[in-house]
Amino acid sequence: MTDAVLSFNDIRQEFPAPSGGPRVRVIDGIDLDVGGGKFVAVIGPSGCGKSTLLQMAAGLLAPTRGIVRHRGTVIDAVNREVGFVPQQAQLFPWKTLAENVELPLLLRGIAAAERRERVASALDAVGLAGFEQYFPNQLSGGMQKRGSIARTLVYRPDVILMDEPFGALDAQTRMVMQDDLQRQSRDAGATILFVTHDITEAVLLADNVAIMSQRPSTLLANIAIDLPRPRNVFEPFKNLGFDAAYDAVWSVFRSQIGIRQRTH
Ligand SMILES: Nc1ncnc2c1ncn2[C@@H]1O[C@H](COP(=O)(O)OP(=O)(O)OP(=O)(O)O)[C@@H](O)[C@H]1O
Ligand SMILES: [Mg+2]
Repeated sequence: MTDAVLSFNDIRQEFPAPSGGPRVRVIDGIDLDVGGGKFVAVIGPSGCGKSTLLQMAAGLLAPTRGIVRHRGTVIDAVNREVGFVPQQAQLFPWKTLAENVELPLLLRGIAAAERRERVASALDAVGLAGFEQYFPNQLSGGMQKRGSIARTLVYRPDVILMDEPFGALDAQTRMVMQDDLQRQSRDAGATILFVTHDITEAVLLADNVAIMSQRPSTLLANIAIDLPRPRNVFEPFKNLGFDAAYDAVWSVFRSQIGIRQRTH
């Protein structure tokens, strides 16, 4: 608990109803620790509060009750020590792709030559070399999303919050990006909290899969995935133990998506 890089302690969240009715309870008591260098995937039904949890870790939202800590310190302001890839790509429309990706380096006072080199390699890593001078509205949705990933990875944060980062990508690009993330995070020893709807993706990438219930949400399970690394993201079924790990997650998650037990 104490050596967790991120810890969520008895988190509750309520929001005012837009119509002015009673407040809506979204999260109903969640405890979750993310250990140093660990990759934790969070899955849960739409609207259960996954993005809300990430916003708390980024310091963009204070929980109604409970405490979120980063390296033991209570997060009570915008947390600039974590990299955050939000669910919606948020590139500045008036800046080119390269300028968008360069921005965090400018803010950190990195010299021009190094900025150029790092922007080029971050764009290359997400398959966007050649699009430096494009503005966001000249890029596809998936390209904007990759640009937003590059903008976060370019400054090499050691804690990364990712909210369905690969959801908008085509299947092939997605596999390549999963593979890259797996390698990069292992090489850099980064701590990652990763929201996804995709059980296969969660099992392939994560050390632990945290499963949230429908709202008001609780944590149904936090399942350790002990598959050897590196894992083959291109052919998930070829990873020894993949089926059992998938089943362990699916057997908990299925109750939340209203599908009756099937015999096959
Ligand atoms: N600022 C807000 N004001 C009122 N309600 C909010 C606010 N932010 C989130 N909510 C509500 O909280 C709930 C959880 O939202 P959140 O975005 O965290 O869900 P999610 O689990 O990320 O869903 P998805 O998988 O669809 O992205 C939703 O019902 C949403 O309407
Ligand atoms: Mg969300």
